[in-house]
Amino acid sequence: MTAVVTGIGGFLPPRRVTNDDLSRTLDTTDEWIRTRTGIRERRVVSGGLSTGALAVEAGRRALRSAGTGGVDAVVVATTSPERLCPAVAPEVAFRLGLGTVAAFDLTSACSGFLYGLATAAGLIGSGTADRVLFIGAEAFTTLVNPEDRATAPIFGDGAGAVVLRRGEPDEPGALGPFDLGSDGALADLLAIPAGGARQRSADGGPGHGAVPAADWYLRMEGRPLYTQAVERMTQSARAVLKRADRSVADLDWLAGHQANLRILQAVAEELELPEERVAVNIDRVGNTLSASVPLLLNDYAARGELRAGQRVLLSAFGAGLSWGSTVLVWPGIPAEPVG
Ligand code: COA
Repeated sequence: MTAVVTGIGGFLPPRRVTNDDLSRTLDTTDEWIRTRTGIRERRVVSGGLSTGALAVEAGRRALRSAGTGGVDAVVVATTSPERLCPAVAPEVAFRLGLGTVAAFDLTSACSGFLYGLATAAGLIGSGTADRVLFIGAEAFTTLVNPEDRATAPIFGDGAGAVVLRRGEPDEPGALGPFDLGSDGALADLLAIPAGGARQRSADGGPGHGAVPAADWYLRMEGRPLYTQAVERMTQSARAVLKRADRSVADLDWLAGHQANLRILQAVAEELELPEERVAVNIDRVGNTLSASVPLLLNDYAARGELRAGQRVLLSAFGAGLSWGSTVLVWPGIPAEPVG
């Protein structure tokens, strides 16, 4: 039994924030952000929109693309959950009218989509579910310090979703082998120190001891992360191609996590993959963590650039550290523009 992609959807919050908008409140410029990251603008939640609502909209579109009103499980990958407890997936399932199906969240930052795909595929492979709605949803800009010029320009909000069904390994849309990995020794390179159990027990709980304001926000060491991202994504891509008995020449597209255009270009160079086969939408959305790869796939499919029968390598890297890759032949499924 293999998990096959049978629907795709995406959703972006309407509020658009350009680099020029940011440079009005931060010591930065459009030129710096564009040349160092490839980002021109990002979407940001506002007006009460949050992770759950983004997930519901993306999920609705993926179900429509799959032509189905029912699934056996809902999995949401997010590193910006609505609340520490409970998971948002049960609420998303409820709001989509999917009933009392299995539903849970999964956290793996920017590699959340790859870890989630492998998990959802496992639910199908084990016979636990025939159909799974899997959503990557993030309102991560709420966890980024608006006064920190090193992180505020990089992230954006959004959600992307796929429906997986049980199928055969040689069908278009069949997920190939996975390569997943992690390195917890480098966990502090990208972390939000406060808000979790470690901080609560260290300061004696709510009301005991003051937590510095900056600790509630993301801390990032950009340089070493950059190096790790290039190395890990390249190694992971090579590993999964080997497992799938494929070569770089077989690939039509690299759909890589959109953290930095220069990271994607460096990975392509290492792999000797022509740059025109690197899918890119970071200019319009920034880094949307676990929503990044499905938003990219949806975007390219909706514009007819990613076509049925083309072979795609999906690869992502992020906090943890964590990374993952898989390959698939794109299926002939409808995709709506996300706006
Ligand atoms: N605007 C203007 N200048 C800025 C700036 C901004 N927004 N952010 C940093 N700078 C300055 C720095 O202060 C530094 O100045 P200095 O040379 O006077 O000290 C200079 O620009 C270079 O900073 P540095 O952080 O070394 O830049 P960089 O080329 O490494 O680019 C990142 C920074 C964050 C874009 C890059 O390191 C990166 O993308 N890293 C990976 C991040 C990532 O992938 N995170 C998510 C993981 S999924």
